[in-house]
Amino acid sequence: MRTSGHTVLITGGASGIGLAMTKQFVHHGNKVIVIGRNERKLKEAEVSLPGITVYACDVSNEEQVNALIRELTELYPDINVLVNNAGIQYQYSFMDSEADEMCGKVQDEIDVNLVAPIQLTARLLPLLSRHDEAAIINISSGLGLSPKKSAPVYCATKAGLHLFTKALRYQLASTTISVFEIIPPLVDTDMTKGRGSSKISTDRLVDEFWRAFRRNQQEVLIGKVKLLKWISRFSPSLADAILKNS
Ligand SMILES: NC(=O)c1ccc[n+]([C@@H]2O[C@H](COP(=O)([O-])OP(=O)(O)OC[C@H]3O[C@@H](n4cnc5c(N)ncnc54)[C@H](OP(=O)(O)O)[C@@H]3O)[C@@H](O)[C@H]2O)c1
Repeated sequence: MRTSGHTVLITGGASGIGLAMTKQFVHHGNKVIVIGRNERKLKEAEVSLPGITVYACDVSNEEQVNALIRELTELYPDINVLVNNAGIQYQYSFMDSEADEMCGKVQDEIDVNLVAPIQLTARLLPLLSRHDEAAIINISSGLGLSPKKSAPVYCATKAGLHLFTKALRYQLASTTISVFEIIPPLVDTDMTKGRGSSKISTDRLVDEFWRAFRRNQQEVLIGKVKLLKWISRFSPSLADAILKNS
């Protein structure tokens, strides 16, 4: 892929991994449109990165998404890269949680992490397919390859996104749209605050992704996930044991 001259839509692009992706695309001469819910974070991103466009939108709210897609299609018909980055993670025990409260969290995680990227893909495909070169970039997780005990639904959504991304890549193989998947290990962001050790920085993730993006290498295993994939080939149970209590 060329690395400049794109018009890029990034969900959750005002903080964490999404913000690092926003900065990288801007730095390389791309037009970036950022979606998020938190208006303060969107404003801060807009101030620190003049030239980006921000929209407040909850990607799990169908009405808001449909209205936004209508507006974007009119104002930015040149969108040719979609980065499905927005995500949430809850930790809960099925044995110790109250069912109603837990079901609300389950629904939110599935809607934001799995349904939203799939539906955004479906809604933006007509726009993406107009271009000579286009990309969909999904952010899954090493936890979609081997789960951890404390976040079963998060892991299930990331496993779902992993397989969706592969199957979509098969479907779009004969088109001009490349389907990337970034599979990160533990990254130092708000999502992982107070949890885990040996996290990598968002900058390191983006550096590794950028090299792959340039080479059009579409499944992008970041840092220790390369080792995890290798271990799981020879000993799936060892890979599972490594991540179970991570
Ligand atoms: N950090 C890690 O270790 C790690 C590892 C593997 C994969 N990932 C994945 O990487 C992606 C980014 O995670 P992160 O670590 O950067 O987390 P983060 O710092 O918590 O950022 C999450 C972003 O998603 C946005 N978001 C969440 N729900 C949204 C919704 N309903 N509508 C619109 N935007 C929404 C948030 O924006 P608002 O606050 O404005 O809603 C925020 O910008 C996620 O998909 C995550 O699962 C993270």
